[in-house]
Amino acid sequence: MRRRIPRGVRVATLSLVLLFALTMFPACGGGDDQPPAIPHSTTQTDDAYCLGCHQSGAGGAKVTPHPTRTGCVSCHKPQS
Ligand code: HEC
Ligand code: HEC
Repeated sequence: MRRRIPRGVRVATLSLVLLFALTMFPACGGGDDQPPAIPHSTTQTDDAYCLGCHQSGAGGAKVTPHPTRTGCVSCHKPQS
């Protein structure tokens, strides 16, 4: 005979696993306040240079959620 796990138990287990994951990795749970590092080389560091790509999304760059901020590199650290 096939053993059946009650649906309610499955849902509860899944919820617990999810909750655990979100607690261990807050970055996945939204409300992420850590500015992502700059994954590409930066030949300049002025805001206009950054916005040249990140305001419009030119060349596949992600559109910044905060185009009016100044001092991009004070939060977003170049990686090299
Ligand atoms: C020539 C266009 C261009 C310029 C100029 C540019 N970027 Fe980018 N940026 C990109 C592209 C394309 C990506 C995504 C592809 C990648 O990872 O390289 C990216 C990715 C990023 C990311 C990662 C976003 C994420 O969610 O992981 C950050 C942060 C970032 N750039 C910040 C900056 C800052 C700060 C500057 C100014 C110093 C800047 N960029 C200048 C094109 C540009
Ligand atoms: C006060 C700190 C701060 C400044 C200044 C700042 N950022 Fe950010 N930025 C963040 C944080 C925190 C996040 C990630 C959370 C979010 O999306 O708001 C982020 C996210 C981003 C992303 C990723 C968006 C995505 O969809 O993943 C890009 C691109 C970006 N910023 C570009 C810029 C550019 C360009 C400037 C300068 C005009 C800038 N940021 C200035 C803090 C900052």
